[in-house]
Amino acid sequence: MIKRPKIAIIGAGGNVGAAVAQWAVVKELGDLVLIDLKAGPAEGRALDLTQCGPWEGFNNNFVASDNIEKIAGADVVVMTAGVPRKPGQSREELININAGIVKGICADVKKHAPDSVLIVVSNPLDAMVFVAKQVTGFPRERVIGSAGVLDSARFRTYLALAAGVSVEDVQAIVLGAHTDKDMVPVTSTAMIGNVPVAKFLSPEKLKEVVENTKKGGATLTGLIGTSAWLAPGAGTCLMVEAIVRNQGRILPCSVELNGEFGVTGAFVGVPVKLTAKGAESVHEFELSAAEKDAFAASVKANTELMEIARGFLG
Ligand code: 2OP
Repeated sequence: MIKRPKIAIIGAGGNVGAAVAQWAVVKELGDLVLIDLKAGPAEGRALDLTQCGPWEGFNNNFVASDNIEKIAGADVVVMTAGVPRKPGQSREELININAGIVKGICADVKKHAPDSVLIVVSNPLDAMVFVAKQVTGFPRERVIGSAGVLDSARFRTYLALAAGVSVEDVQAIVLGAHTDKDMVPVTSTAMIGNVPVAKFLSPEKLKEVVENTKKGGATLTGLIGTSAWLAPGAGTCLMVEAIVRNQGRILPCSVELNGEFGVTGAFVGVPVKLTAKGAESVHEFELSAAEKDAFAASVKANTELMEIARGFLG
């Protein structure tokens, strides 16, 4: 029998995990294993999704469990475990709770799915990718943070709204840390239909778009009362798809930098090539002077957070 990719989602009882699962079944990406601290929410999400099959036209056999051993042999593990932020809270404030959770689960991932590509979604994102990398000891191409895809989707959305154009024709990327203060929406290379964005938007309007992008997650948390999940789930699933279908997509993801963009040892969002091997390569490009400064500040903030995270590694 031809083997289907095995995709494990940890924290699948939560909103982001469930959204990843939803996009993954609709795209028929593989066999899904939904893991949560308690079996009930994982089973509930699986059953709810299974009941979409008759209308959406998919058949999917889920494994849903509180037993992490069920991830054995997974090709991709998506880690969404941890608490989401509340209105007014920063992602960084979650470190004290989430670092311990992520650390414990990563030890299990190392044990039960040692050959998997691990996608980290838990916040504070870049510091949690660092924890995952330290605990699993996986090579850097197999420990990847999902945030740049989400932030770039928000950037493209705000650009399209401001310019009054189709979002499909907006090409733009957000680099750096997944924090409100320090992420770097790159305007110097942003294009709409191959035309520089500056031809559509004034510097003031562009600045407003950048600010809206940076506080994109906080805006949604304020409106919904908890962290967003649909776009985070869609972006993460795009990464899963690129890996299980070996697509070679170039997407912004958080990985350990080994000299790229002049940085070594920090974990921030950069363009990577996603294939069956994971983040196969990092792709550098020239930033403007202001963006270089913003990227450096982003790396600095991330390095400080990583030091706090290191305290949880024991
Ligand atoms: C966000 O920005 C969940 O961190 C995520 O919405």
